[in-house]
Amino acid sequence: MKGLILAGGFGTRLRPLTYTGAKQLIPVANKPIIFYGIEALVKAGIKEIGIIVGETAKEVKNTVGKGEHWDINITYIPQEAPLGLAHAIKISKDFLRDEPFVMYLGDNILKEGIKDFVRRFQENKPNALILLTEVTNPQEFGVAVIDEKGSVKKLIEKPKEPPSNLALVGVYLFDTEIFRAIDHIKPSWRNELEITDAIQWLLDNDLKVESHKVKEWWKDTGKPDDIIEANLLVLEGIEPLNNGTHVDSTINGRVCTGEGTVIEKSVIRGPVIIGKNARIIHSYIGPFSSIGDNVLIENSEIECSVIMEGARIKNVEKRIDRSIIGKNVVINVSAHSPRTHRFILGDQSYVEIIK
Ligand code: G1P
Repeated sequence: MKGLILAGGFGTRLRPLTYTGAKQLIPVANKPIIFYGIEALVKAGIKEIGIIVGETAKEVKNTVGKGEHWDINITYIPQEAPLGLAHAIKISKDFLRDEPFVMYLGDNILKEGIKDFVRRFQENKPNALILLTEVTNPQEFGVAVIDEKGSVKKLIEKPKEPPSNLALVGVYLFDTEIFRAIDHIKPSWRNELEITDAIQWLLDNDLKVESHKVKEWWKDTGKPDDIIEANLLVLEGIEPLNNGTHVDSTINGRVCTGEGTVIEKSVIRGPVIIGKNARIIHSYIGPFSSIGDNVLIENSEIECSVIMEGARIKNVEKRIDRSIIGKNVVINVSAHSPRTHRFILGDQSYVEIIK
């Protein structure tokens, strides 16, 4: 079986972070989101992976490489514009040939992985296998209607009035019938070839579509709050590993620190991950925080946040909570009076000052 990971798209809902990078490269627990997808495929025994790339192809290639890291082969497939998930499959025909494959959306994280679903697909040999999960906001996803036996009856993309709360998770398994389905569908109102329409075509033509509900958590990291939530969920499962140095500090719970990291006169309350060569001085790092490589945090408090590499945070009086701080961002509260705010923020930055 082959794998197809989607890493195109503009990531508009994650601006300004996505002005300078691909959304699939945003770190969750200090690891680019796309790595979770690659590792899920590798664990399921898949060694040939195609990655669909768009405008951010260069960064994706630089970060992911050719696959040597996982002992697999990665092929990059350029998509001229985000024209839909079914379009991504269509342009991957030469790569996929006539093998069955798993399509994995590069911004999805699925705790239980996909090994079990790959096994079921190989045993039952349906034409498609989809994963479903109950959500409270089905209008933001593809939605499935299933009957009492669990058979899929209907799929609708982002319905205004959702007929169920069962969302399609961004992991799909297909055999070659999907190419025939895609040849029969037309672009939707948003000018995309929708995968939901292609799977609906399979249903309408009496082909076999199997569905399974995911048991553990699943996260589509499309929006800032999803990144914070995914970070929290991943950190919940980390094992402590201390490669840094602590001086006059208290470390509670599960904490990982990378080589060269120095923690001085601080309190770290896990689960927390801190990368390499970071410096935490006279600060508090609370649960569910990920601190990247080379970050400096001084006289400040951080909780439930993602702080990316190279950021420098100094003298912030109030706790920084549920925040995402991009690479090399500087936040510094100076002691000079009058006490003013001074901002140099890029387009679509978001600042919330809570009194
Ligand atoms: C896509 C699919 C949708 C699915 C979702 C899961 O939506 O079109 O059916 O439920 O992924 O992540 P998008 O994230 O492109 O809006």
